[in-house]
Amino acid sequence: MTFELNTLNLAGAAREKCDALLVLLADPFKPGKDVLSALVEQTVKAGDLEIKPAKPDQPLIIYRPAGLACSRAVLASIGDGSAKQVRKAVTAAVLAVKADKVKKLVICFASLPQEDAIRAAMTAAADASYVFTTTKSKPEGRVMQRVLLGLPDSLKFKAVFEQTAAAVLGIELAKEWANRPANHATPALLAGAARALTKFPRIKCKVLGPKEVARLGMGAFMAVAQGSGQPLRFIVLHYNGAAKSVPPTVLVGKGITFDSGGISIKPAAEMNEMKFDMSGAASVLGVFRALVELKPAINVVGLIPSCENLPDGRAVKPGDVVTSMSGQTIEILNTDAEGRLVLCDALTYAERFKPRAVIDIATLTGACMIALGGVRSGLFSDDDKLAMALAAAGESASDFCWRLPLDEDYAEGLKTSFADVANLAGRMGGAITAAKFLQRFAGKCSWAHLDIAGTAWKSGVAKGATGRPVALLLEYLLASAK
Ligand code: BES
Ligand code: MN
Ligand code: ZN
Repeated sequence: MTFELNTLNLAGAAREKCDALLVLLADPFKPGKDVLSALVEQTVKAGDLEIKPAKPDQPLIIYRPAGLACSRAVLASIGDGSAKQVRKAVTAAVLAVKADKVKKLVICFASLPQEDAIRAAMTAAADASYVFTTTKSKPEGRVMQRVLLGLPDSLKFKAVFEQTAAAVLGIELAKEWANRPANHATPALLAGAARALTKFPRIKCKVLGPKEVARLGMGAFMAVAQGSGQPLRFIVLHYNGAAKSVPPTVLVGKGITFDSGGISIKPAAEMNEMKFDMSGAASVLGVFRALVELKPAINVVGLIPSCENLPDGRAVKPGDVVTSMSGQTIEILNTDAEGRLVLCDALTYAERFKPRAVIDIATLTGACMIALGGVRSGLFSDDDKLAMALAAAGESASDFCWRLPLDEDYAEGLKTSFADVANLAGRMGGAITAAKFLQRFAGKCSWAHLDIAGTAWKSGVAKGATGRPVALLLEYLLASAK
């Protein structure tokens, strides 16, 4: 999908040739002396369109409107013009014309919007028109190819426009990899996707296999991988936008390409959704894709421990004790708590970069879905500054998260007589006890953990990856460059 930005008032929008012209109408609507304004006034008067109260999810479609250059005009009210209303309106409008062959969409704001409303319009248009084609035999690709954003004053919004266009490229790369079934997204294929990013300047990539990982002593990661015929990969990505001496931010993405639970096997229903268990890894790839577009003066390292979690004669068993790269021994009480096992060794590996911050991103716990649903990702950090920066980035990018606690009392349940730590505590506070486990391996680094189990994909009819939290992470990284 390509985005363009242009200065357009309503008179200009009326002259714009396109398959669909979406006009976003905030309240109050101030009509001009053009045909489009007249059309809006007529429809309101006739009771076909309501601006107050706003009904963003009920767009009015007008075919071949007289005096307008577009094939269809889509009128939608957006009330106070907030990001939420704009997202609703654009999503509903794009879905409403999805069956028509709308190749070029013009989105026109009738009055000057806020920055977050522009982001919402662009990401919602991309989201609603996205189609996954990789595993279809006769792919019917995306119909909507071009979106022109028309604003009363486009120059003012150039920066946010460019950032969002780059974010969309990243979000779509993350969706592509997260949506792929496990047989089309093995650890080796994921490593290939990371390597493919080296075609862009400033990107370096190193991929470690089983031998190198064994040499590093990543016993926890290896234990998860040992039940699968697919060899593990440890992916190391670098984005070098600043001098070598500038400490990087390290992003660690959980890359379980399929999570059956292992010997502690999951129930059959919905097990297929565990192909999404590498969404954290996919979001790291997405962030790097956006970085190469925007070229900020920062350094970023991406670490992806990737493997399958399967039951097998060679698989790790409940009760097994393994030694992590940090030297800490771990009693694996439940082989389905595998995310923390692959992440802990990656967190230890991260120390060598002397990072300014380490952020891990993982579809880690069902408990986090129960706590926060699909609206906000879980945020954990023992560094208030880092937590606040990530929370703020989530708000500006409309990719929301919510901080949960890390009191030491939550670590009680991880105690065991047979190792330094167990990989499982009781059922209560499961998202937090998982975070407490990870915290032990973050060492002296400033560390945060995003549990995206509820936000990385949608179940049901609209099943699919969301590309979250690419927008949040990108916003955080760009703000750190200022
Ligand atoms: N990948 C899952 C977490 C998950 C489950 C994400 C469902 C989204 C939907 C993770 O590896 C897992 O299995 N976690 C267990 C941990 C438990 C055994 C302590 C869980 O949440 O049930
Ligand atoms: Mn699991
Ligand atoms: Zn998992």
